[in-house]
Amino acid sequence: MHSIATNNFSGNKQDIYQSLLPQLESLLAGEQNLVANLANTAAVLHHQFDWWWTGFYTVENNELVLGPFQGPVACTRIAFGKGVCGTSWKEKERIIVPDVHLFPGHIACSADSNSEIVVPILNDKHEVVAVLDVDSKYKNTFDETDAKYLKEIAQMLAPFFTD
Ligand code: SME
Repeated sequence: MHSIATNNFSGNKQDIYQSLLPQLESLLAGEQNLVANLANTAAVLHHQFDWWWTGFYTVENNELVLGPFQGPVACTRIAFGKGVCGTSWKEKERIIVPDVHLFPGHIACSADSNSEIVVPILNDKHEVVAVLDVDSKYKNTFDETDAKYLKEIAQMLAPFFTD
């Protein structure tokens, strides 16, 4: 896999996702355990890109609870509709935040985070079962390319959430 040392992904971000996705798919195909698969997905993504925090919050008893992640210690619980993650859960939509300081209600788990993307993971009943959250130390890190491929990853992970 390629290694990325800066925030300048402009030319090859799509290529990186395209090479990463099949590798991730085969990694997930060999394992059914949800935590194992979320953990390896966070690790693969985090070490592929120069991201600050990469991880999951899962829906449990009507709140988001911290799941497998890579990066610094994070907030453990997020309420429905709160922060970027809770808003993504409520709206069932991915949210790209170019500058977290301008997002009303943004929850600052780390003072070093400056931009963020959150992608919901939906089950076959169209319920949000988790969100994939990525933070960057830089502003304007995430765009529609990230949204497109992270959504594909969310769809790959959805079947591992069982009742
Ligand atoms: N910033 C998120 C909270 C989670 S951390 O970024 C890991 C939010 O506003 O929901």
